[in-house]
Amino acid sequence: MADRLSAAAIRAHADVRWLGGRIECLDSVDSTNTHLRQLAAEGAGDGTVVLAEEQTGGRGRLGRTWVSPRGRNVYLSALLRGGVPVDRIPQISLCAGLAACETVEEWCAATLKWPNDVLAGGRKVVGILCEAQVLDAAPAVIVGVGINVNMRVEEFPAELRDKAGSLAHACGGEIDRCRVAGRLLSHLERRYDELRQVGFAAIAAEWTRRCGFLNRSIRVEEPGDIVEGEVLGLAADGALRLRRRDGSEYRVLAGDVTVLDGYAGGE
Ligand code: BTN
Repeated sequence: MADRLSAAAIRAHADVRWLGGRIECLDSVDSTNTHLRQLAAEGAGDGTVVLAEEQTGGRGRLGRTWVSPRGRNVYLSALLRGGVPVDRIPQISLCAGLAACETVEEWCAATLKWPNDVLAGGRKVVGILCEAQVLDAAPAVIVGVGINVNMRVEEFPAELRDKAGSLAHACGGEIDRCRVAGRLLSHLERRYDELRQVGFAAIAAEWTRRCGFLNRSIRVEEPGDIVEGEVLGLAADGALRLRRRDGSEYRVLAGDVTVLDGYAGGE
């Protein structure tokens, strides 16, 4: 098994036409998203991909840190140009979550937690951070995907040990990171092409099928508010639809989800 990331080894597992035309594998970087943002500003093309053996400043959603030790996991950022309007960026993020879930499913059963965490064995194994950079009329979208591949639970900081996991933890045995990265590129290209050419409806249906807490009661901590309700599914624009206790429907656009009714699916 290759223990170092390489573009050639990743391509050997990738069934792609345009994504990963340029693949940079770095030894160490603050954040692959930040690095790719710089490359985008310098004119890097659609489909450019950056990976790193380690991130010294890996970033998560809502200003959190993404634990990124050397040689254990996949830290990958992909540049998607292609003229998707800014108001569809939440759809790209959900599309990337679906692609990551399909990748994990090549090894073990997985579910999605809104907006785009992937859980396996009841623990979070994937996180996604989508960032847009509007340089000219069309935004450049940077899709950052962190997949915990060979990380042992003891290697996570104490506060994450009961909710974070890895593919190896969920299915046993060491897993080839280049293969995981190659399969991710395949699923991401296919789903992003589908989003651009067909629209969001089919992605939303596949996402909802994998949603680990459909019809369950959840609490959402939104910026400045807390909302509770039963999950109905995804709206056409990617918002999470909730039925509140008073029967009214509510759309969640951003925030953190906690499942209330004895769910063991992790955070
Ligand atoms: C989350 O909070 O769940 C999102 C985590 C996203 C982590 C990935 S790792 C590759 C890319 N580079 C970063 O700094 N973050 C994303």
